[in-house]
Amino acid sequence: MCGIVGYVGQRDAADVLLSGLERLEYRGYDSAGIAVFENEIIKVVKSKGRLADLKEKMQKEGKPSGHAGIGHTRWATHGEPSDRNSHPHGGGNVTLVHNGIIENYKKLKEFLLSQGRTFESDTDTEVVAQLIDYYYIENHGNPVEAIVKTLKEVEGSYALGVIFADFPDRVFALRKESPLIVGVGENESFIASDVTAILQYTKNYYLLEPGEIAVLSKQGAKIYDLHYQKIEKEMKTADWDISAAEKGGYEHYMLKEIHEQPEAIKKTITPRIENGLPNLEECGITPEKLLEFKKIHVVACGTAMHAGIVGKYVIEKLARIPVNVDIASEFRYREPLVGEGDLVIIISQSGETADSLEALKLSKRLGAKTLAIVNVKGSSIARESDMLIYTHAGPEIAVASTKAYMVQIAVMYLFAFELALANHCIDETECRRLTSLLQNTPDQISAILENKEMTQLIASELITADSLLYIGRGLDYALSMEGSLKLKEISYIHSESYAAGELKHGTISLITKNMPVIAVATQRNLLEKTISNIKEVKARGAKVILICHDAYHPEEGTADFRFGLPEYEDLLMPMLAVVPLQLIAYYTAVHKGNDVDKPRNLAKSVTVE
Ligand code: G6P
Repeated sequence: MCGIVGYVGQRDAADVLLSGLERLEYRGYDSAGIAVFENEIIKVVKSKGRLADLKEKMQKEGKPSGHAGIGHTRWATHGEPSDRNSHPHGGGNVTLVHNGIIENYKKLKEFLLSQGRTFESDTDTEVVAQLIDYYYIENHGNPVEAIVKTLKEVEGSYALGVIFADFPDRVFALRKESPLIVGVGENESFIASDVTAILQYTKNYYLLEPGEIAVLSKQGAKIYDLHYQKIEKEMKTADWDISAAEKGGYEHYMLKEIHEQPEAIKKTITPRIENGLPNLEECGITPEKLLEFKKIHVVACGTAMHAGIVGKYVIEKLARIPVNVDIASEFRYREPLVGEGDLVIIISQSGETADSLEALKLSKRLGAKTLAIVNVKGSSIARESDMLIYTHAGPEIAVASTKAYMVQIAVMYLFAFELALANHCIDETECRRLTSLLQNTPDQISAILENKEMTQLIASELITADSLLYIGRGLDYALSMEGSLKLKEISYIHSESYAAGELKHGTISLITKNMPVIAVATQRNLLEKTISNIKEVKARGAKVILICHDAYHPEEGTADFRFGLPEYEDLLMPMLAVVPLQLIAYYTAVHKGNDVDKPRNLAKSVTVE
């Protein structure tokens, strides 16, 4: 969701802001804008649409030229996407960009209207700009005091980049809930929603905490508390390389990220395996601690929630502990039965998803212990949880998550193996065998990635479909949920995943001639049953695409297309079978000419509830 960049230094500010915003495009947006000090005057250019539209506008209106400024990509919440509602927004001396939602903006707006102020947009953001300006005038031109006074009035979530007309060599920044980092280079400083936006300039940054105000200048960044006392903060260094956030010769980030999966698994699991057995001690997890938990809840959103469902099947099967999987936005508001003795696992790529973060805080208040499985270092969920396992997928730029899902399930397997061993549900020999199989999954996945032609052929069959079904049983059903989500996210074709055995209780009525049905059948103990369900849809005219072990050849006429996967342990098949499902979704979207990496209406990081 909304991306923020700010810059003060010697470079051309507009160029830095635009390149930073490009790197934040993956978060999802519908308009963009920048404000730059040009000869000490704030010049704003903003536009509905993509950054290309903003650049086009600049070609016509002129690119602001200066060395300090702020930039923004907006994902509309209050007010339709339009030039008028795009950020930056101004109020007198103040111009700002905002990520988040101001919950009490109506009340604040009424107050400001009563003070004779007028508004140019429908946004909640403009209210904050006007309010800061109101206090700025009241406080005789002290920017930090004006910001502090405003903060006391504002309810909701925000990350703000603020400039004041009277301070042409400063950028001010603050946050609550929404993420913001402060980058420090040589004779220059930055703000950004995440570190990928500034990696090409510096790897050094501070994590801004709620209640802290950053004041950026060429000389560096100073951070103050709400009493205007200077705070000394620990400088972080990003371990992500800039090349990791670039396409590296692939047509799309999504394809690149699909290919990065073998490496991502290795990076994620290798440091957590010792002498052939899982060891999660550095993450705060010991076998003794694991024995305390009688019930596990996995809470997450989107793809991360699907990783939780695979985790549920694996943990329950191996460790015999009940696992509940919840959508974070439901969990929060249904008075969940969570308390002491429970473990709540929050899975999140970004570590900033508002509902997942709130679910974590709620679980802590209810007395449960929390474990976060997070990709982005230093993110809010990572910082709030009791125990933490970082996935090492590197930056995931495509909105449709692929490698993050892969490493999330890899961690769920590792966790399940350790838990099952601690519970004496499996012995050390079995644990070693499973761990070694997990370690070999990258090679299996690399082999699948060599063989993309079949997924391209299948994709070409799907482009004319209005709707399709994914079916499976057991772990195949858990996985097919992710396959279906991937397809609808980027190809815009309606699809549903269904437990194969449940089809005949309603959904089979949707089957018409040539409707594609993608059947995942990798669980050998359930194979015959799934094949019977496939026959049921085939008999009603469906076009069946079967994903199964390569050695399995169903009777003639059962499937129209077949994708064979390497022979491997059934328990680990989701890690292999997800690859053709990702590729089918990818190539379908490519064939349809869609914007694969930035699908319409979606945001990578959803920081509002
Ligand atoms: C958004 C993204 C999804 C992602 C979900 C959860 O909807 O588009 O790809 O799965 O948020 O995000 P998280 O960062 O918490 O994993």
